[in-house]
Amino acid sequence: MNSVSPSVVLNDGHIIPVLGFGTTVPDKVPKDELIKATKIAIDTGFRHFDSAYLYQIEEEVGQAIRSKIEDGTVKREDIFYTSKLWSTFHRPELVRSCLEKTLKNAQLDYVDLYIIHFPMALQPGDEIFPRDEHGKLLAEAVDLCDTWEAMEKCKDAGLAKSIGVSNFNCRQLEMILNKPGLKYKPVCNQVECHLYLNQSKMLDYCKSKDIILVSYCTLGSSRDKIWVDQKSPVLLDDPVLCAMANKYKQTPALIAIRYQLQRGIVVLIRSFNEKRIKEFMQVFEFQLASEDMKVLDGLHRNLRYNTAILMIIPIIRLLMNINMVAFARISIRRSAYAS
Ligand SMILES: NC(=O)c1ccc[n+]([C@@H]2O[C@H](COP(=O)([O-])OP(=O)(O)OC[C@H]3O[C@@H](n4cnc5c(N)ncnc54)[C@H](OP(=O)(O)O)[C@@H]3O)[C@@H](O)[C@H]2O)c1
Repeated sequence: MNSVSPSVVLNDGHIIPVLGFGTTVPDKVPKDELIKATKIAIDTGFRHFDSAYLYQIEEEVGQAIRSKIEDGTVKREDIFYTSKLWSTFHRPELVRSCLEKTLKNAQLDYVDLYIIHFPMALQPGDEIFPRDEHGKLLAEAVDLCDTWEAMEKCKDAGLAKSIGVSNFNCRQLEMILNKPGLKYKPVCNQVECHLYLNQSKMLDYCKSKDIILVSYCTLGSSRDKIWVDQKSPVLLDDPVLCAMANKYKQTPALIAIRYQLQRGIVVLIRSFNEKRIKEFMQVFEFQLASEDMKVLDGLHRNLRYNTAILMIIPIIRLLMNINMVAFARISIRRSAYAS
């Protein structure tokens, strides 16, 4: 077996392996492939698996993890399993039920990390994407601070070792950090982050608050037609990146991952290709010189692959304004009570 991915300490004292294996499955790929890939990833040295209620594959990931526990390759405590609260469960009274569905599907007693998938609530119900008769997403105003309090209760109940967020901007993070009576800070913010969208401001902000930035689309995404503009440039074909790969005698993918690791980012990557999964662990065998890191910094062009977040930004803005009004009202009520 190869060496195991190194880890870093989160702000609540738990540790997170710096390289995480993504578990999304494109429509054309059978779910069995995910079981196979997850097992190969564990054999290769991956210990961190990034999943979500939304992905509808937690049964398969859980099955792969359990089979690797049963054959003695790993123990449960060696594995770092992340899942995410879906937006139709943002109401505080629903948060725990989403996590319990995840635990039931994956057949786990706890998750290592539970994160709010998007800073936007959708109307509860059986539909993952509830829509009105015109096809518009049915959003609703739930105060993110109330959702966060319910996340804190999941941690207190031992169902999640750590709690965090995903796709939050600085303003939304600030809202949680400034919440009166905050019990636990988010340990991470998982966002799209790669050479073309290097998130340097968000990274600085997160570092200043002892929050880990976790990157997705690190390799330029799987270019799924639903979310990704097919005319966008292919990240791993970038000529500067390819020249750097030649210089270090590594693949462009390894350079793209190494760049993020050296910035202190926890990196998510996904592949169903056995050779590539095995190759990922080589990222710990070389280092990029600081002048080359600067060259790679220069590739930033504010390009977002995952347009799902762009579609919901206007709704988030609207709801944030409603939330801010509600938040101001609560603060006024609280201070009136205190005086
Ligand atoms: N929080 C969120 O909102 C959010 C959003 C998106 C993703 N995520 C998480 O992040 C994970 C990563 O997924 P991603 O969509 O961001 O994709 P990504 O890791 O940037 O890219 C995955 C794609 O890269 C290809 N690939 C992998 N290694 C390669 C190599 N060495 N050379 C060339 N191509 C290579 C894969 O194809 P092959 O399979 O053929 O190798 C796959 O199509 C997801 O699974 C999910 O867990 C989270």
